[in-house]
Amino acid sequence: MNILWNDQIVAKESIIIDPEDRGYQFGDGIYEVVAIYNGELFEWEAHYERFLRSAAALSISTQHIIEKLKSNIHTLIEENSVEDGYVYFQLTRGTAPRFHAYPAEAVPPVLTGLVKKKDTTNPPPSSMKAITTEDIRWLRVDIKSLNLLPNCMAKQKAIEAGVHEAIFIRDQVVTEASSSNLFGVKNGKLYTHPLNHLILNGITRQVVLRLASQLNLPVIEEAFTKEALYLMDEVFITNTGVNVCPVTEIDATQIGNGSCGVITASLMKAFSELLSPKIKV
Ligand code: PDD
Repeated sequence: MNILWNDQIVAKESIIIDPEDRGYQFGDGIYEVVAIYNGELFEWEAHYERFLRSAAALSISTQHIIEKLKSNIHTLIEENSVEDGYVYFQLTRGTAPRFHAYPAEAVPPVLTGLVKKKDTTNPPPSSMKAITTEDIRWLRVDIKSLNLLPNCMAKQKAIEAGVHEAIFIRDQVVTEASSSNLFGVKNGKLYTHPLNHLILNGITRQVVLRLASQLNLPVIEEAFTKEALYLMDEVFITNTGVNVCPVTEIDATQIGNGSCGVITASLMKAFSELLSPKIKV
């Protein structure tokens, strides 16, 4: 398998990660996951913009990779013959002797990127069950950083509880889920946490907001409580991977009638129509 290593495409086996890479020691880096449909990057501009924003928030230089990033990722897609799948790429601050503050002398950031083909033997679930868990993450989760341990712990808790996803609750309100944004539907209106430092500005969330507006669905970007979550008519999550996926049970409480709701279904349909020119038949 070939991977992206700074500005080169090389065999995965040929690269060496320095043990003093700050991504490795401190989680000092950022990442993106972008879907590939029919060899094309879905919503590239939005992902790229978020990547640059994350880098700027952490003062990680992107100067050396910016120009060729998209074309290198395209080459990577072609070399690995990926039609449908995703690309994961990350940028760490680089290698320096271990000291918490950023290196005084700038070191070159380290970019790695890999593509994965869609796993047709293991498709994403058509609906999900979830648990809630305390949101113990830091207060800048709008930065798509490599620091994902609380997310990993939450997902592990979900798996151990026999469900798919863990929904974060901070100060009584629903923020998002361990690797997705969350929407509720009540009386025909969509509810989701407003954009701020407490959630990731999901690209799929952005697409869903656009589709909701096209479908004339009212959207209220306001925090709501766990109790309100249980009483939603419908709940769904969004991310690169599942796009839109209904959540039919939370903490063993059935949501709505326990199956995919009509508004969720209409958004899923609109999403797949958006993708259909991109998916080969
Ligand atoms: N995660 N919130 C969190 C905490 C996430 O980790 C993700 C995505 C999202 C949705 O973002 P987007 O729609 O841009 O994929 C929201 C990716 C898929 C991951 O870490 O693998």
